[in-house]
Amino acid sequence: MKKTVRSISKMKGGEKIAMITAYDAIFARLADEAGADMILVGDSLGNTFLGFDSTVPVSLEMMLHHTAAVARAKTDALVVADVPFGCAHFEFGRLLDDCRALCQKAGAEAVKIEGGAKMADKIRRLCDAGIAVMGHIGLQPQQVLKLGGYRKFGKTREEIDELVADAKALENAGVFSIVLEMCDEAATEAVTEAVGVPTIGIGSGPKSDGQVLVCTDILGLSKYTPPFVKKYADISGEILKAYSQYVGEVRGGAFPVSSQKKGETATKSTKSAIRPFTERACSPRAT
Ligand code: KIV
Repeated sequence: MKKTVRSISKMKGGEKIAMITAYDAIFARLADEAGADMILVGDSLGNTFLGFDSTVPVSLEMMLHHTAAVARAKTDALVVADVPFGCAHFEFGRLLDDCRALCQKAGAEAVKIEGGAKMADKIRRLCDAGIAVMGHIGLQPQQVLKLGGYRKFGKTREEIDELVADAKALENAGVFSIVLEMCDEAATEAVTEAVGVPTIGIGSGPKSDGQVLVCTDILGLSKYTPPFVKKYADISGEILKAYSQYVGEVRGGAFPVSSQKKGETATKSTKSAIRPFTERACSPRAT
């Protein structure tokens, strides 16, 4: 069944919410088939697929391109797109235009904005304009240049109180859920209890209403994997094995096998080459 901001909101305190990042149609389809409730087209796109060192270089154009690819997978999972570096700090009209583009042009069903109470006014106005917004507090990777690195949040009483105040301000502004990144477990618990919208943790322990992980971390595809991540597969190893075998077989002449050896006739392969485009596009790839 199609997930909506309403159905996600109703999951508060109930069954845990599972969110996975995806940046293209293939990974979105797989996350959806696995039953993920939400797909995040995160600006982690920068570190994962685009080869940058942080999320800072990720532009709106990049987010539009990748969000559109995810949206084309037509998932039951709710598609949330990150508002990239700097954009949330433009004057409201320009921010609204960027969020409109993510929803109207690219097909996002919600946007995620980093920042706490300071972002609340703009988020309220976006919600008034009909845009579904997910908040994001704790570690905000778009602040990495200012922070000088990544660290855990909510380790002191003051920081816990600040996180709770930020989360309440976001809830009052109308967000439908809040990501808590790299928060101490006690802080995660305090925020989750303080707000009526679901909290989605990453590196923040088990006390949130749901979890999000970056797909390349889950799959063992990342160059660097944060210590809180559980790797569920070694896809790098599998790809390496397949690619090495292919390279070896091309070099050694074992692939491709001659059609004469396979006993195929020239007429047969000519026929398959002129199958209609739509038929080819929709069916498993012809060999
Ligand atoms: O960009 C991203 O993938 C994120 C998650 C880490 C929450 O913001």
